[in-house]
Amino acid sequence: MGVIGLGWMGRVHSQSYLRVGHHFPDLALAPRLVTAADPVAALREDAARRYGFARTTVDWAGVLADAEVEAVSITTPTDLHVEVGVAAARAGKHIWIEKPVGRDAAEAAAVQSAAAEAGVRGTVGFNYRSAPAVARARELIAAGHLGTVTHARFRFLGDYAAHPMGALSWRFVRATSGSGVLGDLMSHAADLARHLLGPLDAVVADQATFIPERPTPSGATSHYAIASGALGPVENEDWAACLVRFASGARGSLEASRVSVTDQNNYGFEIHGTEGALAWDFRRMGELRVSTGGGYQNLSLAAEHVGPGAGEFAAFQPGAGIAMSYDDLKVIEAAGFLRSIVDGAAHGPVLIDAVHAARATAAMAESFRTGAWISLST
Ligand SMILES: NC(=O)c1ccc[n+]([C@@H]2O[C@H](COP(=O)([O-])OP(=O)(O)OC[C@H]3O[C@@H](n4cnc5c(N)ncnc54)[C@H](O)[C@@H]3O)[C@@H](O)[C@H]2O)c1
Repeated sequence: MGVIGLGWMGRVHSQSYLRVGHHFPDLALAPRLVTAADPVAALREDAARRYGFARTTVDWAGVLADAEVEAVSITTPTDLHVEVGVAAARAGKHIWIEKPVGRDAAEAAAVQSAAAEAGVRGTVGFNYRSAPAVARARELIAAGHLGTVTHARFRFLGDYAAHPMGALSWRFVRATSGSGVLGDLMSHAADLARHLLGPLDAVVADQATFIPERPTPSGATSHYAIASGALGPVENEDWAACLVRFASGARGSLEASRVSVTDQNNYGFEIHGTEGALAWDFRRMGELRVSTGGGYQNLSLAAEHVGPGAGEFAAFQPGAGIAMSYDDLKVIEAAGFLRSIVDGAAHGPVLIDAVHAARATAAMAESFRTGAWISLST
C-alpha cells in the first residue's frame, strides 16, 4: 500500500491497514505499508517510525511510480484528489480516497471514470455507513419495520471552526477545498441519507458564512488549531441546510455546520415511518433508538445496544454495549477496500457513491444561487 498525505486521515488509513488483518483474518490480502508521501518532513519521519513504511517521499508521483505499490490511500487536501486519483487509476493502482472526492461533481466523476476505464477499484471514506447501528437501521427500514418512511432529518453539526480565531486552513479556501461545509460534512449527510432512504430526487437549500475572516496559520496546521496571523477571507460556507424530496416520496431535511457552538461531531439522523421511527447519534455509536409497530401515538423510542449480527460488530467486540470507535469504522472501510480488490465487487462506499453525493451538494449550491428547487433525477 502507498499513502499520499500524512495528516489526520493519512494516519487513520495507515493504522487501518495495520489493524485490518487482526479484525478480519479471513481476508485474502495482507496489506504491507510500502511508500508514504507528504511535503512535511516531520510527518514522513513519523509515518516511517510509527507505521513502518519502507520508504517515504516528498512527491506523490513517487508513490505511483513505485512498482511494489498496488493500492493507494489518497488522503491529501481535497484539491489534489482529482489529479492524484486520475493518475493513480492510470498507473493501475486501486484507490481508497477520502471524501469529498474532489472539489466538485466534475472532479468526482473524473476520478470515478478514470478508475472504471483502468479497471481499478475505488473505495470512498463515507465511514458513517460502516457503523453497525447504521447497518441495523438500514435492515429495519428495508424490512418494513417502520412501515413506509415518510420524513427524516439528518444532521452533521460540528464546532471545529466555531472559534473566530480558528486558523484559516485549506478547508476555508476555494482553491484547495472547493466548497466549505457542503463538501466536508454535507457530503456525509447526503451519502447517509441515500444509503438509508434511497435516491434524493430534489433539493432546495440555503447557506451562510458566519465568520467571514480568519487568522492565517504560520505553517501546516490542523483544522482545530487557533492562530494569530493576519486575517484573510473565508471563501466558502460555514453552514448549509436543505429540504429534500426522496425518489420514494419521503421528505426530509439535511443540515451541516462547522461553527455550531456546543456541537462536537453531533452527527446523526431521525427517521419516521407510518408505523415506527428510529434515531442514531454518532456520539453514542453503538446505540440505535427504535420504535417499531404496536400503535401510533404516545410511543417512545427504546435504546437498542447493537451487538454481534449488526454490520461488522462481531469483528470488534463479543457483546452488545461494548463501545466501538471512529477508527474501527475505518478498519471496516479498509476491509471493504481489500475485499473489492480481491473479488471486483463493491463492499462499502465506492466512487459512484461519491459522484452521487457530489451531485447532491452541487444541486444545493445551485439552489443557494437560484433560490429554487433543483432536480437530481436527470
Ligand atoms: N472521512 C472522514 O470522516 C474525514 C475526516 C477528516 C478529513 N477527511 C478528508 O480527508 C482529506 C484530508 O483531510 P485531513 O483532515 O487528513 O487533512 P490534514 O490537513 O490533516 O492532512 C492533509 C495532509 O496532506 C498533506 N499534503 C499536502 N499537499 C500534499 C502533496 N502534494 N502530496 C502529499 N501530501 C500532501 C499535508 O501536508 C497534510 O499532512 C480531505 O479530503 C478531508 O475532506 C475525511
